[in-house]
Amino acid sequence: MAPPRLIEIVPSLLSADLGRLAELLREVRSGGAAWVSVDVMDGHFVPNLSFGPQLVRLIKRATPLRADVHLMVTNPETVAPWFLSAGADRVTFHLEAAADARALLRAVRKAGAQAGIAVKPRTSEAGLLPLLDEADAALVMTVEPGFGGAKFLDAVLPKISAVRRAVDSRGLGCRVQVDGGVNLATVERAAAAGADDFVAGQGIFAEPQPAAAVRALKRAAQAARDGGFAPPAAAEGAK
Ligand code: DX5
Repeated sequence: MAPPRLIEIVPSLLSADLGRLAELLREVRSGGAAWVSVDVMDGHFVPNLSFGPQLVRLIKRATPLRADVHLMVTNPETVAPWFLSAGADRVTFHLEAAADARALLRAVRKAGAQAGIAVKPRTSEAGLLPLLDEADAALVMTVEPGFGGAKFLDAVLPKISAVRRAVDSRGLGCRVQVDGGVNLATVERAAAAGADDFVAGQGIFAEPQPAAAVRALKRAAQAARDGGFAPPAAAEGAK
């Protein structure tokens, strides 16, 4: 029986005050974060525009935190190299956007970074499961991507569990990640469903003490994953 994977809380910079970026990076690192999520949005795949490779360069210059780049773009094959050159430690792209997801996962790994594959809430895991052997992370979106502060979609919980079961039954190293609406009201059920990594924006940066928020989320996720949490019968949407 493989030892349980470490829980990672991954602050999403989409919700961070970029005027205090260096301070906030230090703050979340002091709370135990080892990664930060850089949401890249092109205004086509999602109705928002966000960051370019320069932000990854900034992060890599300012802290030892690792940059988890989430490409919400229609052309990940074109964009991924830009972020790899900027020093991304992981590049995650969407199954819905990739021309050849397996090839792109291989290319990202060949470039020396971890490779992740993401699916939106309405996308079935069917297309994702065959790729888990090529991926270092499977990102199950728990909101429709595009903005921070959206409501956690409990309807996605069975998909998280399905990916967890597939990873475990095949003895794969792929991490199961969730992103969107993760906070103290929702993290336990996401952990109980099988997630390893929890991307959180407002749940960290809208809090008065982001470091304390990271620690609290990690404690709650750990307790839930270790069996201290029975999900409510039918969670009626998150707070
Ligand atoms: C949504 C982004 C998420 C978002 C998370 O499109 O991919 O990473 O920033 O923010 P919260 O945790 O506030 O939903």
